[in-house]
Amino acid sequence: MDIRVLVAYATKYGATQEIAEKIGEVLGQAGLQADVLAADRVKDLAPYQAVVLGSAVYIGSWRKEAAGFLEDNEAALAKRKVWIFSSGPTGPGDPVELTQGWKFPEKLQPIADRIGPRDTALFHGASDPKKLNFIEKRMLKMVKASSGDFRDWDAITAWAAGIAAALKGETPASET
Ligand SMILES: Cc1cc2nc3c(=O)[nH]c(=O)nc-3n(C[C@H](O)[C@H](O)[C@H](O)COP(=O)(O)O)c2cc1C
Repeated sequence: MDIRVLVAYATKYGATQEIAEKIGEVLGQAGLQADVLAADRVKDLAPYQAVVLGSAVYIGSWRKEAAGFLEDNEAALAKRKVWIFSSGPTGPGDPVELTQGWKFPEKLQPIADRIGPRDTALFHGASDPKKLNFIEKRMLKMVKASSGDFRDWDAITAWAAGIAAALKGETPASET
């Protein structure tokens, strides 16, 4: 049984790409074929039975490459098993508490509802002040977000392991 999974991501500074690569690695270790690609470089969903799509979050929005991917591929995604994640909050504590319940851009929610993802996750992100421009640094200060790498590799690994198990039929896919 060959299951091919696409892990598509959109990043600005690389933190989300590394999360996508980790997810791809965990899926690969579980015996699935995982391709990890930038969302704007994906040409065809035909080879894939399942898609994991993730984006960095900037001012409550997904990167345009991930939003565009969701919009452009709605019909194909609706026929596949889909998992969604955002990489955002920096700071200690539960990521969803840090964003006061925010998990996914409201603007894209109607498309997600039509696609019906198996799960929508919010992971901690990472921001390196050395990489940010002046305006971005000011914005981070304004929203009192911490800078640093808060990515929770255990949470990411566990989530990816759950996807692998669901695709291999070991446990029912988690629903949100
Ligand atoms: C200017 C700016 C705005 C941000 N806005 C949000 C936000 O609205 N919500 C959030 O959860 N994280 C926000 N973040 C944190 C980033 O999403 C986080 O650092 C992410 O992991 C960066 O991913 P990337 O390296 O793949 O671009 C913001 C970061 C910056 C620099």
